[in-house]
Amino acid sequence: MANEVIFEAVITTLDADGAVHVAPFGVRYDGRQVVLKPFKPSATLEHIRARGHAVLNLTTDTRVFASAVCARWLGEKRWPDEALELVATRFVPGLRLGGPLALAHSELRLAADDDDAERPTLRLDRVHDATHAPFPGFNRAQAAVLEAAVLVSRLQMLSADKIDAELRYLQIAIDKTASAADHEAWGWLNEAVARQRAQREAAR
Ligand SMILES: Cc1cc2nc3c(=O)[nH]c(=O)nc-3n(C[C@H](O)[C@H](O)[C@H](O)COP(=O)(O)O)c2cc1C
Repeated sequence: MANEVIFEAVITTLDADGAVHVAPFGVRYDGRQVVLKPFKPSATLEHIRARGHAVLNLTTDTRVFASAVCARWLGEKRWPDEALELVATRFVPGLRLGGPLALAHSELRLAADDDDAERPTLRLDRVHDATHAPFPGFNRAQAAVLEAAVLVSRLQMLSADKIDAELRYLQIAIDKTASAADHEAWGWLNEAVARQRAQREAAR
C-alpha cells in the first residue's frame, strides 16, 4: 500500500486563557480538509476540542520546529511562543505566524473527531487560506533540521550510535546550505542530544 503524503507544518491554537500554543505537526491534506493525528497527551488536541478551531502555518523558520522538540531536554523553549511574531486571524479566533519566514496559513474549523486511546484523528475544514510569501525552493539544511528534530523527539527510543551517525550525515547539509536561523536551530538540537546523554549518565 502506498504511504500517506505528510507535510510538516506548525499548528497554532489558543488555550483556555487565550494564550497561543505553537506545535509542529505532520499533516495530511484531503480535499478541503486538513487531517491531524496528535499523540495523547497533547495540548493542541485539548485546545482544538475545547475551542473547535486551529491555524495551520507553513513556515521555513526551522527554529519553531527545533525549539518545540528540544524543550523537554533544555527545560524551556529556546524560541518561546511569546517571542514569535503573531498576527490575528480573520475568519476563526486565533493567531497565525507572521514575519518574513511565514509563507502561508489556513484557518481551520473542527469537522470530525475520531477518538483513539493513543492517537485520535481530527479532520478540520479549511475556512480560509492565505499566502504571505512565495515558496523559495527546497533547502537541504531545513530538511536536515526537520530530520534531526524528529530524531530528538525519539531520543529515548534510539541508540546513541544511530543518532550520532545520522547527525553526522545531516551536518553536511547544514554546513553547506544553512541560514543563521537554521544554524541556531541545529545548535539547540545538538544541545538537547548532549543534555539527554548527561541526564541518562547522571541517572545511572
Ligand atoms: C517535524 C515534526 C512533526 C511532528 N508531527 C507530529 C504529529 O503528527 N503528531 C504528534 O502528536 N506530534 C508530532 N510532533 C511532535 C509534537 O510537535 C510535539 O510533541 C508537540 O509538543 C505536540 O504536543 P502538544 O500538542 O502538547 O504541544 C512532530 C514534531 C516534529 C518536529
